[in-house]
Amino acid sequence: MKEKINILAFAGSLRKHSYNKYLLNTVKELLPENLTIEIFDIKDIPLFNEDEEKKGLPKVVTELREKISSADGVLIATPEYNYSYSGVIKNAIDWISRPPNQPLNGKPLAIIGASMGLSGTMRAQLHLRQSLIFLNPIILNKPEIYVSQAHEKFDENGKLIDENTKKLLITFLNSFSEWIKKINCI
Ligand SMILES: Cc1cc2nc3c(=O)[nH]c(=O)nc-3n(C[C@H](O)[C@H](O)[C@H](O)COP(=O)(O)O)c2cc1C
Repeated sequence: MKEKINILAFAGSLRKHSYNKYLLNTVKELLPENLTIEIFDIKDIPLFNEDEEKKGLPKVVTELREKISSADGVLIATPEYNYSYSGVIKNAIDWISRPPNQPLNGKPLAIIGASMGLSGTMRAQLHLRQSLIFLNPIILNKPEIYVSQAHEKFDENGKLIDENTKKLLITFLNSFSEWIKKINCI
């Protein structure tokens, strides 16, 4: 049996004090012993342009694709922008989606998210699930993590101060770990 399960994660917000970045940092702190996580910053991924793609993949895109390929699972933390997920995630997905060797195919994946609204990225997550269908990752359904009113759940240093969210995240991580083991037969 594999000793450590490796997760590649990215947040769909570029801002420094993003609640979704805070959420991934919190996940890192709460990880069960058998999991490791690498948080990839997607800020340097250029806007997708087929003309540029034909010239060759940008280094950062190749790096992300390789990291996804070698990870046991992928975790995406999405904000909610105008009832959907953020454009930077869509842009990253578009780059990742191109043949050959599409790296999300068959990959265990989970989506979480934080927003300042009451729905806590519910609509964003649903849209993201839809966009991912064609890329064929195996997406965890439950438990769902919708961190609503995020500005009340993290302090000014990005520390999660809401105990209920913390408990949910621990349950989520254990379920995701089991999901990855099941899908990858490890
Ligand atoms: C362009 C834009 C659109 C937004 N639309 C929504 C929305 O539809 N629903 C929602 O709950 N919050 C919305 N928000 C608020 C974001 O959820 C909030 O800014 C959140 O903190 C963004 O995630 P981040 O902290 O990771 O950057 C929007 C924010 C921006 C900048």
